[in-house]
Order: sequence, then C-alpha cells, then structure tokens
Amino acid sequence: MKNKLLFLGPPGAGKGTQASLFCKKYNVEHLSTGDLLREEVSTGSVLGLKASEIMNKGELVSDELVLSIVEGRLISEKKGWLLDGFPRNLIQANSLIHLLEKINQPLEAVVLIKIDDQFLIERLLARGRQDDKEQVIINRLKIYRDKTTPLINLYEKQGILKVIDGNADIDVVFSCIEKALS
Ligand code: AP5
Repeated sequence: MKNKLLFLGPPGAGKGTQASLFCKKYNVEHLSTGDLLREEVSTGSVLGLKASEIMNKGELVSDELVLSIVEGRLISEKKGWLLDGFPRNLIQANSLIHLLEKINQPLEAVVLIKIDDQFLIERLLARGRQDDKEQVIINRLKIYRDKTTPLINLYEKQGILKVIDGNADIDVVFSCIEKALS
C-alpha cells in the first residue's frame, strides 16, 4: 500500500474522514493542517488567536505558519504520512516539492475526492464547526476553486493523481481509495 500521500478536495469532501480511516488501518501519520491549526487555537496563544480570526472567515492562514507546522512534523516522520489540507496553493505546493526532496521521500499518490456542491453544503451545515456557516462555506469553496484547484493539473501531469467519487457512503468511498492506492 502506498504511504506517502496527499488528500485533496473541496471542504466537506470527506478528506479528514477518509484520511483518519486510512491512517488507522495502515499505520500512517495523519497530518491535517486544519486539525493542527485548531489545536493551536485551543491553546489560546497569540498565534492561535490570529489563525482563528482567519479560519472563521474561511480564508487561508499564512503560508509561513502552515509550512513551519508541516515541516517540523514531516522531517521527524519515520513511517508513512498522509497530508490532509496541505498544500492549498501553488506556493505551498512548491515548498512541499523542496521539502520532500530534502528528506528524500517522494510523494507517491494524490487522492482527489470530488463531491457535488449541494452535498458538501448539507454535510458541513449538519456538522456545525465554527467555520461551517453558510457564507463562510461559500468563501471556503471559492478559495478552493481559485487557489487549490490549480494543483490538480500539477499532480495530473506527474501521473500520481487518483480521482475518487466522494458522493457515496463513507465505507464505499474508503474501498475506492484503498483500491486506488494498492
Ligand atoms: P480544514 O480543516 O482543512 O477544512 P476544509 O478543507 O474546509 O475541510 P473540512 O474539514 O471541512 O472537510 P473534509 O473534506 O476534511 O471533510 P470531513 O471528512 O471533515 O481547514 C480549515 C481552515 O484552516 C481553512 O479554511 C484555513 O483557514 C485553515 N487551513 C487549513 N489548512 C491550511 C493551509 N494548508 N493553508 C492555509 N490555511 C489552512 O467531512 C465533513 C463532514 O461530512 C463530517 O461531518 C463527516 O462526518 C461528513 N462526511 C464525510 N464523508 C461523508 C460521506 N461519504 N457521507 C456522508 N457524510 C460524510
């Protein structure tokens, strides 16, 4: 099973859900920048407070902050890893290329989970996280389309992109991911 991975997709596509299942089953480190940022917010630090303001608007926090979080974790990682929510723009994607060269651990596959807008809005409103308000969801989706979707082309050209239909039940989506990564 491949174990140097990146999960990509719009908010609510199921990246976090599928990444957790995969990492538990295959003993891979789950590196979710959203979860790591929310951990920082919960400490009440100055950095956390700044990040929380940005996250509550559905904007992206600074590349420097996110990169420093990911770099520290990846460098110390001995088993496989799964990046969830990073990279989110071309600057982060280029930084990741350099970082992975430095640690000599090439990315093996990128899983793109696709989902219809109507489903993702329903899912996120039902979850009710701080940033799951309708206007914020719409902004997160716009930022995904503007800043993150250009990465799809990049990974497609590298021949490592696996496209998965995220509209199905959780276990069905998981089976498709396992098949694509085996
Ligand atoms: P982040 O936490 O990464 O949020 P996101 O990308 O918007 O993703 P979500 O967690 O909303 O969706 P998901 O695809 O993981 O779906 P999930 O499995 O949770 O980022 C939050 C914020 O942090 C960003 O807006 C930004 O401000 C900041 N940030 C993070 N990374 C950054 C970066 N690299 N650079 C700059 N800023 C960054 O599922 C959603 C819901 O649907 C759940 O309730 C789940 O139970 C349900 N569900 C999942 N799958 C299914 C299914 N198949 N059927 C039915 N329900 C399902």
